[in-house]
Amino acid sequence: MAIEQTLILIKPDGAFRKLTGLTIDRLDATGLEMVGAKMVCVTEKLARDHYASLSDKPFFEGLIKYIRGEFHGIKDHRILALVYRGENAIKAVRAVAGATNPEQAVPGTIRGSFGRITTTQQFENVIHASSDPTDAAREVALWFKKDEIIP
Ligand code: PPS
Repeated sequence: MAIEQTLILIKPDGAFRKLTGLTIDRLDATGLEMVGAKMVCVTEKLARDHYASLSDKPFFEGLIKYIRGEFHGIKDHRILALVYRGENAIKAVRAVAGATNPEQAVPGTIRGSFGRITTTQQFENVIHASSDPTDAAREVALWFKKDEIIP
């Protein structure tokens, strides 16, 4: 069993709809440890760096606006970023998050319970969760300085 770290972002729809506590509850229920947590101002650059591999997708510009809180009136583009650590943390968090597409997410998962697709086809899926070890390492380093994570 590998001890992994994974990045979670509670997205602007999660904050706007007051789902932060509920989301953390479900993450904590995995038994993993929260080892990093901070409010981050999502600059245009941070958003574009985070989603760099998707820059050729038709939904890319919408994704950048969404993560910066522009669809939900989030002041200062603030978002809660978390790092969880533990055995197979990446898979464990993805399991409670549910499928990326809220329509396909199993009821009872975070996205299955709270996600939606807007009339403009924008996914509003409440959280971001790293998809694999390579992405997790890149994303944790992008959002957190080393000394912001409990060793
Ligand atoms: S994943 O979770 O990385 O395996 O999913 P993937 O399908 O590769 O999607 C990567 C991110 O793109 C977002 N996405 C979309 N946003 C808006 N509209 C559409 N149609 C759409 N398709 C994919 C998806 O939510 C993923 O972002 P995160 O932040 O990981 O949820």
